[in-house]
This record gives sequence, structure tokens and C-alpha cells, in this order.
Amino acid sequence: MIQGTTILLVDDETRFREACKRLLKARGFEVMDADNGRAALDILSENPIDLILLDLKMPVMGGEECLKATRSSHPDVPVVVITGHGTLDAAVECMKKGAYDFITKPFEFDQLLLTIERAIERRNLEQEKRRYQEETVRNLIDLNTEKKRLETIISCMANGLMVTNRNLEVILHNPALLRLLEVQGDFTDPFPVLQIIRDETLIETLKIIQRGEVPEKEVFSQEIRVGNKILRAISAPTLGPDRNVFWAVVGTVTVLEDVTAFKRLDQMKSDFLNMVAHELRSPLVSIRQLNSVLLEGLVGSLQEKQQDYVKRTVNKIDALLALINDLLDVARLEAGRLVRQQVAVDIGKMIEDMVAFMEPRAREQNIALTCSLKNLKPILADPRNVEEVLNNLLSNAINYSPDGGSVTVRAQGVDEFVEIKVSDTGVGIPAEEIPKIFEKFYRVKHPKTRHITGTGLGLALVKGIVEAYHGSIGVESTPGKGTVFTVLLPAMKTEGSGGI
Ligand SMILES: Nc1ncnc2c1ncn2[C@@H]1O[C@H](COP(=O)(O)OP(=O)(O)OP(=O)(O)O)[C@@H](O)[C@H]1O
Ligand SMILES: [Mg+2]
Repeated sequence: MIQGTTILLVDDETRFREACKRLLKARGFEVMDADNGRAALDILSENPIDLILLDLKMPVMGGEECLKATRSSHPDVPVVVITGHGTLDAAVECMKKGAYDFITKPFEFDQLLLTIERAIERRNLEQEKRRYQEETVRNLIDLNTEKKRLETIISCMANGLMVTNRNLEVILHNPALLRLLEVQGDFTDPFPVLQIIRDETLIETLKIIQRGEVPEKEVFSQEIRVGNKILRAISAPTLGPDRNVFWAVVGTVTVLEDVTAFKRLDQMKSDFLNMVAHELRSPLVSIRQLNSVLLEGLVGSLQEKQQDYVKRTVNKIDALLALINDLLDVARLEAGRLVRQQVAVDIGKMIEDMVAFMEPRAREQNIALTCSLKNLKPILADPRNVEEVLNNLLSNAINYSPDGGSVTVRAQGVDEFVEIKVSDTGVGIPAEEIPKIFEKFYRVKHPKTRHITGTGLGLALVKGIVEAYHGSIGVESTPGKGTVFTVLLPAMKTEGSGGI
């Protein structure tokens, strides 16, 4: 504390000055000196001084006048007045005018040191206090600027924003919120959420979040309808300090976005795709039929080359028809119209038929196609849907197996479910690709399967169908070794227990 402390010693008595200076320097202080007030003020104006020791009676400018000048020019620098007995009153007067303390000559040097240390300490504390005050003011200004900025952002946002407290009262909202929710009137925070939100599912979500049943970083996304609009509501917990645990849920924040236009566009896209697929299918079916007539020789026999070309044309048409049917099914799946009629489906028979149907294709690739059926119950479903599931899984198993492998279908009853496993000894699927293969139009890039044509819709449809029946689909695969797809479908309830 003493190191680097500079004292300005002002006294007209040279011997006193010299003695004091020596002693103070020996204690580590920097000392500057002056023999009158005028000279002291000059030094003060050009040097950083931490403390002034000031004699009162001096020529040119006395201590009192000097003190007065320093109080206005250097209020932070403490002044300790040095006085003889004769000037005690004047010293007391100086205290009133801002001197920190006084010391009467003659004095013990230790006494002087103590006074200096106390004065410096007090000055340091005051400086610190001022620094804190300035910092607090700066922080408050920053905070307010930030608050104003946030308020402007929130009130200009196109999305609705709502923050609630522990009692499900709105404590912050913006104009867009009221506009999107189509509520009129003035709402002054806080007010009950129920005054502006009528959608019970959203209220339930807010209650779930409030009860702390949602992990901290998770958000809830749901769609709600308001008038003719569809709004996406994203809600999350807001955290605050709590007496028992450090952070606890103190409320919720919800952002509302108008997604009506996106939904309409999506619907238009689906309608368009559906329409195009439908319009393409009829002429294609006619073209296929005409080609079949040609192939069967009903309008005259074809030469070998002609037969070959027409066959190839038919194959291409079949691929196109399969794509169109998939697109139509995807459109149906998205519109929730995939399940059309539900009957008891003999799954064992259907698997046997499908295996028989696929057999020629498997044989072409030298693949052994087998099935094993055990303990099967019928399932209640649209037979076309079940056929689609089997067809896609088996086609994939055969397509993605190199020549000479084997494909097996195993089906068995497991509790209230029918489990269907389709295994192959094919190229397999890398682990990182597995989550993506059920997406629409996704196909794994693999040098060995590059030549295989497909649209990537098969598994998306299979998953959609299986889930529409409250079943599940899983896949296990080892690249280079093979793949097993496992489908679980609810078996039909036995007599008396009602249907699914
Ligand atoms: N049994 C399998 N073995 C290896 N890879 C497979 C298997 N089944 C599916 N895949 C991979 O998953 C991708 C998606 O399969 P999906 O059936 O959805 O589409 P696709 O077969 O490419 O086309 P399509 O719509 O004509 O069925 C395939 O492209 C293939 O890479
Ligand atoms: Mg496929």
C-alpha cells in the first residue's frame, strides 16, 4: 500500500521538511516537498499526489488558502494539517473545510505514520466506492439500453410472443400475439392466460411445462387453430432462482407463428402431385395393355428383336406405374386416407403368395427365397396395405442382395402381435444411414447398388402404413453381411374382445 504512494510535504521549516522527508522515504514513500502553498499547488497540478501534509503558517500562501484551493481542484487527495499549539483553532477550522485530520507539532513519527496510513486507506476506500458507483450506473444504463432494444425487437416481431409466470398469468406479450390470436382490447400485464388463449391443448402444454415435466432444454411444438389460421406454437420453460434448488421453472415462454400459408402450399403441392399421378396413370395403363396385346401376338406375331424391344418397353412402363402408385400412396398416407377397408387378413397366406410372386425375380438373381410361419393370428387391415409392406420389404431384400444370397421371411405370433422378419444376406446399411432410410426419397449411395433403380419411397410408405395400424418397424444391419427388417403389427383381437 505504501509502495508507490506519493506524499506532498508542504512546510516552510527546511530542517523539519528534510527530517520528515528522510523518515518517510525510509518507510518506502515517494516524497515531494514545497515551502509554501503556492509552490505546493504548482507541484500538485503537474504530479500525481496521493496525500498532502500541510503546514498552516507559511509565507507567500498559507495552509488554509492552499487547502481551499486543493478542495476544489483535487477533492480526492486527503490533506493532513500539521500545526503548532498556537494554531490549533485554525486546524479545527481546516477540518471543517475538508482536511482529513490534523497533527500537532511536536509529534512522534509513528503517530504521523498512523495518520498517513489511515488517510490513504480512507482515500482508497472512497475511490473504490466511487468506482463501484460508476460501474453500477454504467451497468444500469447498459441494462436499460438492452431492455429498450429488446422491447423494440419484441414489439416489431411478426411472431407472437407470450411469457407467463408461475400462476399462468401473462407477464409479457407483444402486439403480434393479440393479432394472431384474434383478440381485441387492452391487456395490461399481468393477466390470466385464459383471457386470450382458448386452445385447451396449448393450455395443457403450458401446465405440463409449469409442473417441470419437460426437460430444461426441450421445447414443445404444436399446431393450434385460430379462426381460419393455423398457428405453430413453440413453448419452453423459463428458469429462475429458487429457494430450494438453484434454478427452477418460474414460467413459460411461447412463440406463435402463422403457418397457414405453408400449410396451404403443402396441400397444393400434394393435390398437384396427386392430380399429375392420376392423369399419368390412365394413359400409361392403356399403353401397357396395348403393348401386352403386341407381346401376346394378338395382332400378328413379332420378330425376336421386336419382342425384345416391346418387353423392355413394358418393363419401363411397369417401373413408371410403380412410381406413380407409390406417389399416390404417399399422398393418401399424408391425407390419412391410406386405410380404406379393414378385413381379417390371413397374413400367413399373404406371405406365401407374395413369396411365390417374388420367386421368379429371386431365381433370376440366384437368390434362395424361403419363408417360415408359426403360430399366426389374422390381422385386421386393408389387404392392399399389408401387400405393400411385404412387397417393399421383399423387393428391397432381393434388390440389395448380390447374386447368390438368401432372403428369408419369418412370421410368428408374439403375444397380441404378429412379428414379421425379412432377412437378407445383402450389402447391408451403414449405421449412420439407418435413421434416414425411412425418409421420403432417401436412397443410400453404395457402389454395389448404384445400378438399382428406385425412388426411395418404399420404406417411407412401409413405415407410414405400419404406424397407421399402431405397429412398429425396426432394422438391424451389418454392412457387407446383411439386413433384418422387423415389423410388428397388432393381431386381430379374438371373438368378444372387439376389433382394433
Ligand atoms: N434390405 C436392404 N438392404 C440394404 N439396403 C437397403 C435395404 N432396404 C433398403 N435399403 C436402402 O434403403 C434405401 C431406401 O429404401 P426404399 O425402399 O425406401 O427406397 P428404394 O428401394 O431406393 O426405392 P423404391 O421407392 O423403389 O422402393 C434404399 O435405397 C437402400 O439404399
Ligand atoms: Mg424399395
